[in-house]
Amino acid sequence: MKPADKNTPRTVARASARPALFAALSVLTTMTRADTVLTLDTTKTGAAVSPMLYGLMTEEINHSYDGGIYAELIQNRIFKDNAQTPAHWSVVQDNESAAAITLDETQPIAGTALTTCLRLNAIRASAGHAVGIANDGYWGIPVMPRTMYRASFWAKGDGKGGPLTVRIESGDGTKTFATARVPKITGEWRKYSVTLKTDSAVAPTANARFVIRTETPQTLWFNLVSLFPPTFKNRPNGNRIDLMQTLIAMQPAFLRLPGGNYLEGETVATRFPWKQTLGPLEMRPGHSGTWGYRSSDGMGLLEYMQWCEDMHAEPLLAVFAGYALKHETIAAGPALQPFVDEALDEIEYVTGDIRTKWGAQRAKDGHPKPFPLNYVEIGNEDGFDTQKTYDGRYTQFADAIRARYPRLKLISTVGGKDGLGQRQPLTSRIPDLVDEHYYQGALQMMDNAARYDSYPRTGPKIFVGEWATREGSPTTNLIAALGDAAWMTGMERNADIVTMSCYAPLFVNVSPGAMQWRSDLIGYDALTSYGSPSYWAQKIFREYLGDQVVPLTGTGISTQTWQPATPRNRPTPAPKQVATLFFSATRATKDGKIYLKVVNTIGTAQTVRIDLTGAQKIAPNGTAVTLRSPQPTDTNSITEPTKIVPVTGKVTGLGPRFSYSFPPYSVTVMVLSVH
Ligand code: AHR
Repeated sequence: MKPADKNTPRTVARASARPALFAALSVLTTMTRADTVLTLDTTKTGAAVSPMLYGLMTEEINHSYDGGIYAELIQNRIFKDNAQTPAHWSVVQDNESAAAITLDETQPIAGTALTTCLRLNAIRASAGHAVGIANDGYWGIPVMPRTMYRASFWAKGDGKGGPLTVRIESGDGTKTFATARVPKITGEWRKYSVTLKTDSAVAPTANARFVIRTETPQTLWFNLVSLFPPTFKNRPNGNRIDLMQTLIAMQPAFLRLPGGNYLEGETVATRFPWKQTLGPLEMRPGHSGTWGYRSSDGMGLLEYMQWCEDMHAEPLLAVFAGYALKHETIAAGPALQPFVDEALDEIEYVTGDIRTKWGAQRAKDGHPKPFPLNYVEIGNEDGFDTQKTYDGRYTQFADAIRARYPRLKLISTVGGKDGLGQRQPLTSRIPDLVDEHYYQGALQMMDNAARYDSYPRTGPKIFVGEWATREGSPTTNLIAALGDAAWMTGMERNADIVTMSCYAPLFVNVSPGAMQWRSDLIGYDALTSYGSPSYWAQKIFREYLGDQVVPLTGTGISTQTWQPATPRNRPTPAPKQVATLFFSATRATKDGKIYLKVVNTIGTAQTVRIDLTGAQKIAPNGTAVTLRSPQPTDTNSITEPTKIVPVTGKVTGLGPRFSYSFPPYSVTVMVLSVH
């Protein structure tokens, strides 16, 4: 701080930082300076900030839906997860009873997708010595006090036995949390539904299982066994309440769906089969996902749309474009046309009037009102198509979509800058936006934060459709949040070109074996959930978005020397200088407030002089929202869900020129009233 800086503000203090023990990976040296100045030119009007800048990206990965936001509690409910064995199901019996379970493909339910069922041979059973089938859920069944669960199943029997008991019970069967009775099962397939209610004495636990029991010998067949806890807005087949609330708090502008790789499929045959995801659950066969497990497709196209509606976010619909992960491509021309038609039908399902074929189907599925749709992305990561067929495929899709839906904005998955900073060739049909993806380490992300400062201004706008600083597992840690925040300042400074973005992956079930991709935004198990530090950084950036860039320059920014990793079969790159302080400023024209965002990525506080050029009147008091923690590896988790969260404090002594000490390892949003 310079002596001239009389207006040094005070902040409400938080626990002081302990000295850093951890040097961010690959940092060689750090050079700090005493004369760092940020100059905001409040007389100038910068670019408009797109209200669509921050959205969400989703796909079935890390048990995002099954075992995640989709609230179904029964794993392998239609018995197709494993063709050899009834995975996640076990037989219930005791010393005086005997039973066997087996998959049975000889009893399909006519007119449905339910072709494999579970047969229970209740060989020996009597009062007090029941047998049955048990499901262990998605790493347990979450049990909460005073909670109503809706259970249902399809069943038929040999007509020889008595009624069934449906229970949520402890994992070892010794404690019953909720129970209901179902009358004798008939010889025809029928759906049975019951409600199960826990009382106030039940302590929350996920050490529980779902059981259907009989106390009489008989043979029973089961299919589509389902159990739902209360869902967001009480929707049948709905979403988990805590995860919806966590997302809504982010105020996302859009939801990019249904992937990602999940859209593409390993093969064309296993792409996201949107038509098979509609209607009653018994009509949905599910499909093999791209992340090592089968998808129930309970999260179908309509459920995606309702998810958007419930978040007040608009869908950004990605349509399959003839390229699958194992490099299977459909060449442009007649062979591709069925896929183009499939995409047109999909858009019609989302937006069509109920007099259209697919609009009518949507109405039949329970939602007569069309959903708003402004953005359609054609494919995913088609830069990986080694046969280089995207241009033709994009042209065919774009021409067909534009002919029928001229108002829609189209997104191409190629045409951004590549890793060497060269803008890749655009498709022949110029898209409205190009999608760029970045997954990087913290220092790389910080190094890359200036990327858009020198980006060509000609051509389509940028949609950063997947980005993340990949540090920390299963969810990201503080240094990742700092990398993310640095990156977001870069997007905000360049709001004239970067108009949309979404982080990925959004979700991870943190239970052992559930994750395929480390460093995710929001973690959960069967019972609870939490946001990573990256989640909180994004939340505050979104909350203080503003609608106009305030031109901002920084001088005297200290740097650290970073040794980038050596790419395989390439020479070791030269060390690089990376800034330690990142910043952006925006204005909310509705009330004139300026949001100054500053990220201090090192373990020492950095005092910065802030000059507000041209400001006539500055309120002496403002606020500072700060996300920080002593160690860059600090993180949130199931056991410490709110270890790192933003803290809002008052800042006093503000003026046209003031100094502020940005704490070690911190993200700060200063809210200034400037006129
Ligand atoms: O976000 C994980 C994966 O990364 C996405 O499915 C894919 O688009 C990208 O390669």
